[in-house]
Amino acid sequence: MSVHKVSDVKRVTVHTLQAMKEAGEKIAMLTAYDFSMARILDAGGADVLLVGDSASNVMAGHETTLPITLDQMIYHASSVVRGVQRALVVVDLPFGTYQGDSKMALKSSIRIMKESGAHAVKLEGGQEVSESIRRILKAGIPVMGHLGLTPQSIYKFGTYTVRAREEAEANRLLSDADMLADLGCFGLVLEKIPAKLAKRVSEAVAIPTIGIGGGNDCDGQVLVTQDMLGITKDFHPRFLRRYADLFSVIREATASYVADVKSQDFPNEEEQY
Ligand code: KIV
Repeated sequence: MSVHKVSDVKRVTVHTLQAMKEAGEKIAMLTAYDFSMARILDAGGADVLLVGDSASNVMAGHETTLPITLDQMIYHASSVVRGVQRALVVVDLPFGTYQGDSKMALKSSIRIMKESGAHAVKLEGGQEVSESIRRILKAGIPVMGHLGLTPQSIYKFGTYTVRAREEAEANRLLSDADMLADLGCFGLVLEKIPAKLAKRVSEAVAIPTIGIGGGNDCDGQVLVTQDMLGITKDFHPRFLRRYADLFSVIREATASYVADVKSQDFPNEEEQY
């Protein structure tokens, strides 16, 4: 007998995610930056694909997420949108395109929505970006929040360690989460915070929370796809579970190809015209 799930939909929308939280059905989110991978992740059943500014790290090789530009994010996002049939596509507003000036935040969000065809934007921060969120939402663009470890502020934090262990920061995070939900954000990423705090937030707010290093009581989970698939090699945070070792698979396939070319085994009679 097949059991009907809330996520048995042709297209995931922000309303699907809300209904999933209400039904206690967990949300599976992954990052995507290109057409081919987006197609595979969508076929694998990911509910949400995040075109994260982590593209700056995993696709471009930068040390931080700060260098990636709005044009580059739009390029990645439009490639992902073309690969997706079911998943909701959310795009990160990159560093410097929304902080401080809410008109600029709206302009950046409109460019993302118009030029990529994505379904929503995500931005980092709480109270300090509330004006920007308000303005973007007013234009009819769904917004996802992001609290805890917010990598665009890495030079303020100094390290990538767990955030909000101290009571004052935990209380600020709780009140920011409340505010984001009250403003009308459709979801909230909680990155690298104590599991107990993520549980409190997830119980306190009506909108879905998506954890990365936030424990099992979040309403969903997100991982960077290249980490989850073992394409990245030298990144071993406690929260990461690797589901494959694609670095080795691809390296070995490459070595076999190189050997076949050098030995003139490839191409053979059937592989030529
Ligand atoms: O850019 C990104 O990949 C993210 C996730 C880690 C949530 O923001």
